[in-house]
Amino acid sequence: MKQVIDEGILAAGRYDHAPQLTKERCEEALSFILDQIDRNLETFIDTFPSEASSGNVYRQVGNTEWTPAFWTGMLWLAYETTGNEKYRQAAEKQLPSYKQRIEERRYTNTHDLGFLYTLSCVSAYKLTGNEDAKQIALDAAELLYIRYLDKAGIIQAWGNLDDPRQRGRMIIDCLMNLPLLYWASEVSGDRKFYDAAHSHVHMSAKYLIREDASSYHTYYMDAETGAPKYGKTAQGYSDDSCWSRGQAWGIYGFPLSYRYTGETELLELTTKIANYFLNRLPEDFVCYWDLIFTEGTEERDSSAASIAVCGLLEAAAHFPLTEPLKRKYENAALSILESLIENYMTKDVPESNGILLHAVYSKPGNNGVDECCIWGDYYMHEALVRVTKDWKPYW
Ligand code: GLY
Repeated sequence: MKQVIDEGILAAGRYDHAPQLTKERCEEALSFILDQIDRNLETFIDTFPSEASSGNVYRQVGNTEWTPAFWTGMLWLAYETTGNEKYRQAAEKQLPSYKQRIEERRYTNTHDLGFLYTLSCVSAYKLTGNEDAKQIALDAAELLYIRYLDKAGIIQAWGNLDDPRQRGRMIIDCLMNLPLLYWASEVSGDRKFYDAAHSHVHMSAKYLIREDASSYHTYYMDAETGAPKYGKTAQGYSDDSCWSRGQAWGIYGFPLSYRYTGETELLELTTKIANYFLNRLPEDFVCYWDLIFTEGTEERDSSAASIAVCGLLEAAAHFPLTEPLKRKYENAALSILESLIENYMTKDVPESNGILLHAVYSKPGNNGVDECCIWGDYYMHEALVRVTKDWKPYW
């Protein structure tokens, strides 16, 4: 693996102590999330929340984007943690829509099949043994596998495989799509899915992560020769800045690959990426939308913060008890979480049907800026489940 600098944690003592966040406070936040889910339960049955809200209110959209399964995933979290059948029934009502999407190849030219089918169908299979859901997820894994470009050793992120603008482009978000492939190998016994995910994670480590432990959002490879080309942003401030959510996808994505491969270098890399992220958090621990900003009036991205909480907790869970970073990452995760609970939830915004305020979907695209984003809500829910229960990831 290439040399990547470890900054360590620069602010001495910042993550040495756990914040005052109590389990009761986390339970209260969870119960607020359940109230919001209840409020949305009748609305989002045949439709899903839009990717980002407008005026903090999600619209109803079809199963076309990369995001519907964040809602279905929240239903599964709600079912798993409460045992209330109404959440299971609501999630199961949505499964035909995921099946139809795969069978009819509608909006399936995307690596985001991982997000979509892990949280809707792998979760259904893991929690209830639903064989139909298992088959839908395996079919999705087959479609995701088709996007593997073997010369480059990567999964192409976006668009048709022959689209010259997208050919050979990988993006850091894809790390979260790999668990679908690892899982598919486990349940089918077919090694090809694992091999593709394994190659992709190593190519991501080599090219998407820079030597200073920051990340490119996207990176182009020559699909015919496998030669590396160049990094480019899509949602960050600039090609050479570090988009906060991309870094957060890395903080969560690399330890998830560690979970399946057991390769300690993936965990070591996670610590360098995580330290870079933690070193650029403002006073209230919630990152700006790009890590080039550490103070001032630019928007925060609470969704990157909630993803990072889950990633820090995932990484910490794999450290031995004697590893000092284990405690520091748990403290950092709780500090971010406390800030999100106290200052970023929609508790005082009664018109909102979301959970977390102040996320940014795409600042360059002027899309969902300072709004709720449905994945931010999902990861906030997951983070709270992680800290209050003994939870096995759907990933
Ligand atoms: N995966 C798309 C995003 O993070 O905006």
